[in-house]
Amino acid sequence: MARGGSVPGFLLKKKKNMVLVKQWIYEMRPEADVSPANYRYEEVEQDLTPVRGEVVVEGAYWSVDPYMRIQQSSKDTWEAPHPTGEVQGAAVVGRVTCVGEGVTALKVGDWVETYMGWRSAGLRAVADCRLLNADEVSPSTALHVLGMPGRIAYFGLLEAGKPRPGETLVVSGAAGAVGSIVGQIGKLAGLRVIGVVGSDEKARWITEELGFDAAINYRQVSDVESMKQAFAEHAPDGVDIYYDNTGGVTTDAFIESMNLRARIIICGQISQYQSGLEVPNMGPRLLHHFLYKRATMTGVLARDYTARMDEMLRVMGPWVRDGKIKYNETLIGGFETLPEALCGLFTGANTGKMIVKA
Ligand SMILES: NC(=O)c1ccc[n+]([C@@H]2O[C@H](COP(=O)([O-])OP(=O)(O)OC[C@H]3O[C@@H](n4cnc5c(N)ncnc54)[C@H](OP(=O)(O)O)[C@@H]3O)[C@@H](O)[C@H]2O)c1
Repeated sequence: MARGGSVPGFLLKKKKNMVLVKQWIYEMRPEADVSPANYRYEEVEQDLTPVRGEVVVEGAYWSVDPYMRIQQSSKDTWEAPHPTGEVQGAAVVGRVTCVGEGVTALKVGDWVETYMGWRSAGLRAVADCRLLNADEVSPSTALHVLGMPGRIAYFGLLEAGKPRPGETLVVSGAAGAVGSIVGQIGKLAGLRVIGVVGSDEKARWITEELGFDAAINYRQVSDVESMKQAFAEHAPDGVDIYYDNTGGVTTDAFIESMNLRARIIICGQISQYQSGLEVPNMGPRLLHHFLYKRATMTGVLARDYTARMDEMLRVMGPWVRDGKIKYNETLIGGFETLPEALCGLFTGANTGKMIVKA
């Protein structure tokens, strides 16, 4: 029931809003592959009585993202490592179930996106909630195409990639949350787009459904030389932009195949996360190619564009509603499966965005 309003607090003792909250604690840093054993499940009764300016959010969709594995490293990255013994941080989409005094921007029943972590319900400041328009598209899209992955796909490609119509783009991790959107934005920008994926089924999805021009299944390409041949076959005029989500052999092959003044966008390096963060996985030293080709490599981070979220939504929102950008969700249920779903990202279990549903 909604709380707040002008109840004379000095006369009534406020009833506490005690809730049994389920949560996943990030317990232990993995040495190599992350597994459910790195997490601990608990159910705790918590007082979720909102104070002024707060709401209670009940989770419906939880995000699992590759960056969680980066933050599990003991080394600093763009921030300090995720502390152990605490609820796994994560973006969540859920409904407001209770509002505190003075809250006018949100009401009970509203859908919001908020960084609440892997907990079933929690108290959130109104300022930390993004109100969603659930009438237009599924609220779960706030975790991908109209959320953080969509934001880095959009700004990463258009700002760091500086695409010009007629150029050729290669995207690795092309059937994932970020990659599937990057390729479609590339098509809208007039590019020839080649996606690198981990299965024939994913290759079919990106070419037949999403409109990519070609796909390469990296699991059928044994080494750098064969990947270079695959690029040459699908992009006879060479490649101008590489949107990298995976690193590894695909990236090594690209560097040796890139066109003059190519732009490489480093969005992610998922092939390195499970064991290559503590001890670097040394590949060939290819920087001389940057000299020959006067190429650039730029790292991009979604949070650098947080303040420009509305700018992205103004363009991508209509694209999604009009079907110009398609998306897929691999929905896994329920809350108890969160660590398993995270592990699935590293075996390619998802097509499009991996999401856990209540
Ligand atoms: N810079 C940023 O702000 C930012 C924001 C979001 C995501 N990212 C990065 O972008 C990348 C994609 O993230 P996402 O959220 O869209 O995840 P995702 O692509 O939806 O899921 C991960 C996919 O990576 C592929 N993969 C897993 N291990 C691999 C390996 N060893 N080699 C090649 N591919 C592998 C799998 O697809 P296959 O079946 O095709 O192998 C898997 O489905 C990640 O590297 C992530 O860290 C960066």
